[in-house]
Amino acid sequence: MRHISALYPGSFDPPTNGHLDLIERGAKIFDELVVGILRNSEKVPMFSLPERLEMLKTLTAHLKNVRIEAFHGLMVEYAKSIEATCVLRGIRAVSDYEYELQMALMNRKLEPTLETVFMMPADKYSYVSSRLVREVAQAGGPVRGLVPEVVEQKLREKLEPAYKFHDEMQEEIARTSDKHSEKRERLRKKKA
Ligand code: PNS
Repeated sequence: MRHISALYPGSFDPPTNGHLDLIERGAKIFDELVVGILRNSEKVPMFSLPERLEMLKTLTAHLKNVRIEAFHGLMVEYAKSIEATCVLRGIRAVSDYEYELQMALMNRKLEPTLETVFMMPADKYSYVSSRLVREVAQAGGPVRGLVPEVVEQKLREKLEPAYKFHDEMQEEIARTSDKHSEKRERLRKKKA
């Protein structure tokens, strides 16, 4: 019987609910799915490789045909080394298409036997990206619902000062707003 092993490569910095959604969909259609985290020496990630490995392992522990690994260098070479015949990538919106098409065609040029399969995450995650999650979290904003709870917790730990500053600012805004409403109320009573 045919056994189809697929590779889902990415940076996963951090893993989002969109990534998890795609992993769960991929796990249903492939016999084996390897999530390959890119170790990129040129970019400084927010989460180290061991942190990303740990988060993804925890998040996919319930999926018996999913394995989490790290790779560096050319993705097609890594795919070959693990005997994957398919590459899984997610497409959220038309804007993803151009980059993904270019990458899929380049990968096909490098390794013609490797097929790229695109899947769409649930539409509720169509606007979620690791980059935007990082941006919101770095400003101390809420990321609940965008990332799994373990990732939310890790973001809070890592960005403790940003969250503290954000919460203090919110309190300050609330206090100022209370003062303004008290003043408006006094003026209203005076006029009456
Ligand atoms: O999550 P990302 O950052 O969109 O994932 C991009 C990734 C890791 C799939 C891509 O950058 C990649 O495959 N890098 C490995 C190097 C490589 O093979 N480059 C040629 C791609 S055409």
